Amino acid sequence: MFYQVYPRSFADSDGDGIGDLRGIRDKLGYLELLGVDALWICPVMRSPMADGGYDVSDPRDIDPLFGGMAAMDELIADAHDRRLKVTMDLVPNHTSDRHPWFAAALAGAPGGRERDRYIFRDGRGLDGAIPPNNWPSIFGGPAWTRVAEADGRPGQWYLHIFAPEQPDLNWANPEVAADFEQTLRFWLDRGVDGFRLDVAHGMAKPDGLPDMERVDTKMLVHDDSDPRFNNPAVHEIHRRIRKVLDEYPDAVSIGEVWVDDNIRFGEYVRPDELHLAFNFRLAETPFSADAVRAAIDNSLAAVAPVGAVPTWTLSNHDIAREVTRYGGGPVGVARARAMMMVELALPGAVFIYNGAELGLPNVDDLPEAVLRDPVWERSGHTERGRDGCRVPIPWEGVAPPFGFTRAESWLPMPPEWAASTVEAQLEELGSTLSLYRMAIELRGVRPEFAGPRIEWYGSPAGCLAFRRPGGLVCVLNASPVPISLPPGDVLLASVAPENGQLPANAAAWLV
Ligand code: NOJ
Repeated sequence: MFYQVYPRSFADSDGDGIGDLRGIRDKLGYLELLGVDALWICPVMRSPMADGGYDVSDPRDIDPLFGGMAAMDELIADAHDRRLKVTMDLVPNHTSDRHPWFAAALAGAPGGRERDRYIFRDGRGLDGAIPPNNWPSIFGGPAWTRVAEADGRPGQWYLHIFAPEQPDLNWANPEVAADFEQTLRFWLDRGVDGFRLDVAHGMAKPDGLPDMERVDTKMLVHDDSDPRFNNPAVHEIHRRIRKVLDEYPDAVSIGEVWVDDNIRFGEYVRPDELHLAFNFRLAETPFSADAVRAAIDNSLAAVAPVGAVPTWTLSNHDIAREVTRYGGGPVGVARARAMMMVELALPGAVFIYNGAELGLPNVDDLPEAVLRDPVWERSGHTERGRDGCRVPIPWEGVAPPFGFTRAESWLPMPPEWAASTVEAQLEELGSTLSLYRMAIELRGVRPEFAGPRIEWYGSPAGCLAFRRPGGLVCVLNASPVPISLPPGDVLLASVAPENGQLPANAAAWLV
């Protein structure tokens, strides 16, 4: 069971309004109480923060904003004392434009060694004023930016699938791979237990960088025919990474892999590649029994041929929170609680995004002036981006910033979160936090959760039911009316059943 921490938004120890590593360390007791096994911490390496840390200027140092290297060492040690594993987020696809390599590339000559660490090309047209191909950036606008050469004249273009501050690396250059291996070893030697690898399907670019047929400029829209991603050469990169990880017993890699095709997805988790890959099907699925069943079947089918462990996630720092996706308000919360129970009943690795355990909604009405996601600017203020799922965690008290910081929080927190704080929910038996705690504990200790498979049961329209080989039965009622539960003892339910009836928008575990 992994718990994803978005460090900017988790807990601020030094009063600058931005979360940091000592803040996380102060909350390890909470995470222990919640019952998770491992943390995935979003990037904390040195960064100018053009994309919340996914623009790394030194991959082997911790940014002072997050407390520097000493804070990371302390966090690793304290987490390990509590038997919590620490998974770092590394960014192999690109660096920051402030990385020394990029400065050297700008200063270097076209065709030179310094430029070959990135993807520089001449422009098209007579004066090279047209970008080398038609690729858009995932964050809006073109994926190419033109640089000025040493004589001040407009020169070559460099590729950035994301923001211009995130130039793509050229993984065909052996120097790039060697440097990444050094980064892996650097952190593993410091005691880190594993890595989440950003854009793990994106590092290899197609030969000749051909134009895209469909130019869809919407953020994070993925499509298997997109030539920017999922090129065969990426698997050789993963094999090299795996070789390094195999030198460290128990080290784990988790790749961000936006690939729909089950066979292609499974290729990333062959025995000599990634240990785990995020399957986003469940997070992309509406609250509908048929859609959820299909997402589960596909996620299991994708990893079965290669014998890998399935992964389940309902949300992360790039996706609107599930409470809001499922309709918001009390219904959204009820559905999110039910879906958590479905997720935790499944075999495999579960990833919980910080704040999901509090039933937090997305904050969709942040004032425009505070939006930080590069998508906001890059889309010409047509897409608000992902800040709404990154609002800081409410810990205690009755008014913002709810113990998150002593200062003003970097994004404003809704006053109505007073009812959702950790303090308000911790001792409340019916709270979402209590439901998460009970569910995580049961999942960890009960023998009924054994077995790597599930078996579907017949169920009324709009519902689903499955059984684990160990004997656990999970029922989801996504229909508008109460349904009768199958025989068995209720181990846990998101809403207490009455007279053997499970209400709408609820789930139950039976043994
Ligand atoms: C995926 C990360 O999850 C997202 O937050 C980031 O903006 C992009 N990769 C670019 O690094």
